[in-house]
Amino acid sequence: MSDRSFLIDNIGSLVTNDPELGEGALGLVEDAALVVEDGLVAWAGPRARMPEGAARERWDAGGRAVTPGFVDSHAHLVFAGDRSREFEARMSGRPYTAGGIRTTVAATRAATDEQLRDNVRRLVTEALRSGTTTVESKSGYGLTVEDEERSLRVAAEHTDEVTYLGAHVVPPEYMGKPDAYVELVCGAMLDACAPHSRWIDVFCERGAFDGDQTRAILTAGKERGLVPRVHAGQLGPGPGVAVAVELGAASADHVTHLRDTDVEALASSDTVATLLPGAEFSTRSPYPDARRLLDAGATVALATDCNPGSSYTTNVPFCIALAVRDMNMTPAEALWAATLGGARALRRTDVGHLAVGARADLVLLDAPSHLHLAYRPGVPLVNQVWKNGTPVLR
Ligand code: NIG
Ligand code: FE
Repeated sequence: MSDRSFLIDNIGSLVTNDPELGEGALGLVEDAALVVEDGLVAWAGPRARMPEGAARERWDAGGRAVTPGFVDSHAHLVFAGDRSREFEARMSGRPYTAGGIRTTVAATRAATDEQLRDNVRRLVTEALRSGTTTVESKSGYGLTVEDEERSLRVAAEHTDEVTYLGAHVVPPEYMGKPDAYVELVCGAMLDACAPHSRWIDVFCERGAFDGDQTRAILTAGKERGLVPRVHAGQLGPGPGVAVAVELGAASADHVTHLRDTDVEALASSDTVATLLPGAEFSTRSPYPDARRLLDAGATVALATDCNPGSSYTTNVPFCIALAVRDMNMTPAEALWAATLGGARALRRTDVGHLAVGARADLVLLDAPSHLHLAYRPGVPLVNQVWKNGTPVLR
């Protein structure tokens, strides 16, 4: 028995996301227990079948619910500045446009490394407190070789899931010269950024990058070993999903505006459809049609899109509540999408579920079941979070 082993006992309802361990897609086990050894799940199941002398230390869950830690597969955490005025204007009727990104670019360029680092640390801590144990982060507010490179370095201090998003928008100094900027993104900027990144992303949208530019940038990234993901169909229908599927992207994100051919393409590919309802909430826009995607057989993830412009939240339970209330996802579908769905979008097999051998990334809720995540919106239900088997709160 390892020194670092412990038992969480008396779990009222345990979500494992393993249908072999429990009921339905969530692999739900009632009156459960879970044993952690050396940061990994060593055993999970009904208390009645718990192995003898399973662990040294015992936590009593007191009949409350335990779920896998949330996997937030889409966030933009490296930035400086504040755009609350832009939010205020939107709430008075002004539409959201891609151009607001340039406000954050100016503030980010003016920030010191330490300021950027502090901001990422603050947001990662905030996310952890609401149950997020894996978070992806993009660059995209530097848009010079140096500022993109340092954004990725700072992100990499906090997560392995680092995404190069030099193609967020054409920066002001390249106004009217988009092709020259695309060349930079595929050339010197990629050279500087590839060593710090696992993923490459493009904002494929009117006002940002078109289908051909997106294809060129993602192809250049692939040649350097980066795996594509795409911001697609956020503000209107476009070529983003088709290019994402064509290039074998891990995910197509937002996907709020979809043609039937996009839905079919997602359903018959490994590209995960990542829904970001915080963005529709904060831009007062129609939500994506989750049912259309789920009913077609697409794999759906839910993430926060945390960024200072369109979705300034790190809170996955809030996104789950939106998905259930406003996107017709069942509570089970929404929780799965925010855990194992996020893991699929990041091509991770070690997180998002609690089968034996998975990382012991866990959330203990002050609630008898996961249903309360949507049933009690806005209530801080997260009582404890374990990351790699270590409790991180209090
Ligand atoms: O995912 N869509 C592009 N990027 C962000 C918004 C960025 C911003 O407004 O600063 C998004 O919503
Ligand atoms: Fe985004």
